[in-house]
Amino acid sequence: MMDSNDIVVGLDIGTVNVTAVIGECDVDRMGEPVLKVVGVGNAPSEGIRNGVIINKESASSCIVQAVEAAVNMSGRDVEEVVCGISGEHVKGLNSIGVVKVDSRRRGERPEITEQNKQEAMKSAGAIPEVPDRETFFVMPIEYKVNNQGGIKNPLHMIGNRLEVQAHIITASTSAMKNLKNCIERSEYGIQNMVPITLADCKAILVPEEEKAGVMVIDIGGGTTEVGIQMNGATYFTGVVPIGGKYVTSDIAAVLRLSSDIAEKIKVNQGACHESLVDDKEMIEIPVTSGSFGERTVSRLKVCEIAKARMWEIFTKVKRAVEDTKTMQYVNSGIVITGGGALLPGVSEVAEEVFKIPVRIGVPLGLTGAAKDYENPKYAGAIGLAQIGLDMKIRARLAKRRPDPGKSSREEMPQDEGDGMFKVAGKWLWTKAKNFVKDF
Ligand SMILES: Nc1ncnc2c1ncn2[C@@H]1O[C@H](COP(=O)(O)OP(=O)(O)OP(=O)(O)O)[C@@H](O)[C@H]1O
Ligand SMILES: [Mg+2]
Repeated sequence: MMDSNDIVVGLDIGTVNVTAVIGECDVDRMGEPVLKVVGVGNAPSEGIRNGVIINKESASSCIVQAVEAAVNMSGRDVEEVVCGISGEHVKGLNSIGVVKVDSRRRGERPEITEQNKQEAMKSAGAIPEVPDRETFFVMPIEYKVNNQGGIKNPLHMIGNRLEVQAHIITASTSAMKNLKNCIERSEYGIQNMVPITLADCKAILVPEEEKAGVMVIDIGGGTTEVGIQMNGATYFTGVVPIGGKYVTSDIAAVLRLSSDIAEKIKVNQGACHESLVDDKEMIEIPVTSGSFGERTVSRLKVCEIAKARMWEIFTKVKRAVEDTKTMQYVNSGIVITGGGALLPGVSEVAEEVFKIPVRIGVPLGLTGAAKDYENPKYAGAIGLAQIGLDMKIRARLAKRRPDPGKSSREEMPQDEGDGMFKVAGKWLWTKAKNFVKDF
């Protein structure tokens, strides 16, 4: 268990909003560690486009603004953050790594060690050199020992050949460096950098749907991030470069409105499925802020505009998933989150496109003022803080388990789905299953 004064900070740097969540460790009714949110801060994004920093000074000042707002609310100081990685530059793919297993001593049968597992994972993550691209996350799907497949954890098994099928996530090297620089410029350390879809999964999934296989769609302002997860493994990570801002700009363009007014109409009276709108309903269009003119527009018209864009987003997601043949893992349905999920009718449109059950996902399993944060717009930042908490707990457990006979790595609790993160050029070995939902 963590000390009571230990805190974790999730930082979701989005195209529209920068959100910081400060949490501390609490216990639930079963005595399991859970996140208690003690501070939340928001700042409108500036200098960030689709997950990429385009102006370091503006981006740093938004980061400071969001974190300081969370600091003021919580009364806690922040030293380091778990930062989300998102945007079009993030790409997932499935890859295979193979290593030869040697016995440690002559004459002994070759037994698979933790080091063999890590070497296999590194080999899976070694992509052909492409300028400005690096692997920063590798997570096993399953192992094969001497061609015997379906193995979740091959540790201590006997075999000469270890193969891992892994999901790897690559990102633009310069985008990652700029993000890191920006956070350091804001004078915060980095506890870890985590793909935002993994954070979403951590925050919003219930164990049953994660076990059966699920697709998570995070509709942000500039992009829509997608992840497919089943039983502790990631099968798909992808991004469609369209989000809620496009719905707003369509409403503005078709109805000849400023984007501020279009955004207000969308947020206050918008919907994107005709079943939720009465065809006689009219929306008064504010002419200038605070005053209302005579112009009105049919709510159904606004809904049609929004639906066309949402339909396009889901169709593009479906195509990307079908291209990788990973739809077969989506057995329990789809969970939609992010600020874009707040538009009424989103799940109805997704159900029409995918023809499987869809629900809206909000952060779960929190204590404290949990109700205040059960909102899809907080999923990313809360999931990042939950992952930060899992990592701290795990590091502490590992320290407390000394066994002079074995290396500390081999003594870490072994389970299916260990994974590796690359932070500041160094690989960190960590329990990837925790990124999903098992604490
Ligand atoms: N009540 C609401 N109804 C409809 N849309 C909403 C509502 N609240 C927020 N949104 C939309 O959500 C989007 C912002 O979502 P979010 O904060 O998740 O984006 P972001 O993380 O900053 O962006 P990205 O993930 O693309 O980098 C905006 O397009 C906004 O219009
Ligand atoms: Mg986002």
